[in-house]
Amino acid sequence: MVAVAILAAGRGTRMKSDLPKVLHELGGRTLVQRVLESCVPLHPCRRLVIVGYGADLVRNSLQQTDAITNGNNHQPTLEFVEQKQQLGTGHAIQQLLPTLKDFTGDLLVLNGDVPLLRPDTLEQLINIHKEHGNAATLLAAHLPKPTGYGRVFCDSQNLVKQIVEDRDCTDAQRKNHRINAGVYCFHWPKLAEILPQLKADNDQQEYYLTDTVHLLDQVMAVDVDDYREILGINSRQHLANAYHVLQDWVKTNWMAAGVTMIDPDSITIDDTVQLEPDVILEPQTHLRGNTIIQTGSRIGPGSLIENSQIGKNVTIQFSVVSDSLIADETRIGPYAHLRGHANVGQGCRIGNFVELKNTQVGTSTNIAHLSYLGDATLGDKVNIGAGTITANYDGVKKHRTTIGDRTKTGSNSVLVAPLTLGTDVTVAAGSIVTDDVPDDSLVIARERQVIKPGWRLQSE
Ligand code: UD1
Ligand code: CA
Repeated sequence: MVAVAILAAGRGTRMKSDLPKVLHELGGRTLVQRVLESCVPLHPCRRLVIVGYGADLVRNSLQQTDAITNGNNHQPTLEFVEQKQQLGTGHAIQQLLPTLKDFTGDLLVLNGDVPLLRPDTLEQLINIHKEHGNAATLLAAHLPKPTGYGRVFCDSQNLVKQIVEDRDCTDAQRKNHRINAGVYCFHWPKLAEILPQLKADNDQQEYYLTDTVHLLDQVMAVDVDDYREILGINSRQHLANAYHVLQDWVKTNWMAAGVTMIDPDSITIDDTVQLEPDVILEPQTHLRGNTIIQTGSRIGPGSLIENSQIGKNVTIQFSVVSDSLIADETRIGPYAHLRGHANVGQGCRIGNFVELKNTQVGTSTNIAHLSYLGDATLGDKVNIGAGTITANYDGVKKHRTTIGDRTKTGSNSVLVAPLTLGTDVTVAAGSIVTDDVPDDSLVIARERQVIKPGWRLQSE
């Protein structure tokens, strides 16, 4: 039985931000959300979050994101415990004493600002903790640049004798590069017994959770294999470094799985994205959120795809696609913008300077140049002429346009919604169509051309 507690009450002064540190985003998800999600595979029996600075913001943000990601995970409800004054990490855990009064299991404590932890590492920590019957087990790492971290001092059995914060270290102690990751598994009843004895006799005059190691009988350190997992975020520079680490992992993983990346350093991919083998990513391509790209598709150069599903053998060049679905064999771009549920069928072409918003497109339909189609439904084999625009908004409401199979619109047509064009309709170039058009018709809705032969401008 493991309960999880996340420390998220600090302001994070070194971020120089009004936003609580744990709400800063790393690759599309907040730091604390990442920490919370790394615990999902552990099936904790309780999930506690200690909030303080910006408590309401942190609570609201976590409740929102948890409702989305927790949909099929069946995690216990989040419990928020307030630490009114931030008097240190030990003081933060003291706030759990009333809530966990009758709890007899282990408590996994995580810093809300250590966002790259892998669930396997946490599982391993808990297993070692149980095997050895430790009072506490903590994650440690050997860092090339340990500045800012607490240093861990152990005996030959890996039992922790002392943790000294960087600022409290002597020069000799600072030479120890073995650091405390801020991830601990405690036997809760033992911790609860000694928590009230913590003292704030250090440089910051705070109650340090790390001082509990003096008071517990058997505390063991476990080293992580890849120290990058436990990097803590205290500044914008750390945030940028962590992003770099994350990108490195994500890209290495997808390349090993059969994705080609041309100039990987210029590409960014959220760790929520799914790719199939033989996807090709060209330079300056950015894939975000819940995006899925199927085999044979070539994305970029210069494209942004967010929360979208892209089928097989699709090409997308210099374009932005958000919240949309693109079926197999479709070609997008250059310079197209698809957003707000633009669902495009198989074998279509969406070309230069075309914007689609909340528009459904059938199969083998072409919208090749300079169009805006909003709130529209198009059938199969439709051809939209250059410059066709749906006038979907009357200043108050949005209205739909429906265009039947094989219908063709001439260049510079304006389709004034609500409007239905039947199947096999032809719209003459330059028309402003305001009334529905039945199947198999030609519609011409413009002034006739007038020619006055022999007419010349009279000079004064
Ligand atoms: C802490 C550890 C340090 C370790 C490092 C790893 C202590 C005393 N030090 O230092 O040994 O190497 O993490 O990243 O624990 N928080 C609260 N309430 C408070 C103070 C902090 O909830 O009163 C939260 C913060 O929001 C943050 C976490 O605890 O998420 C860590 O606090 P921070 O001040 O960043 O500790 P470090 O100095 O990094
Ligand atoms: Ca920190």
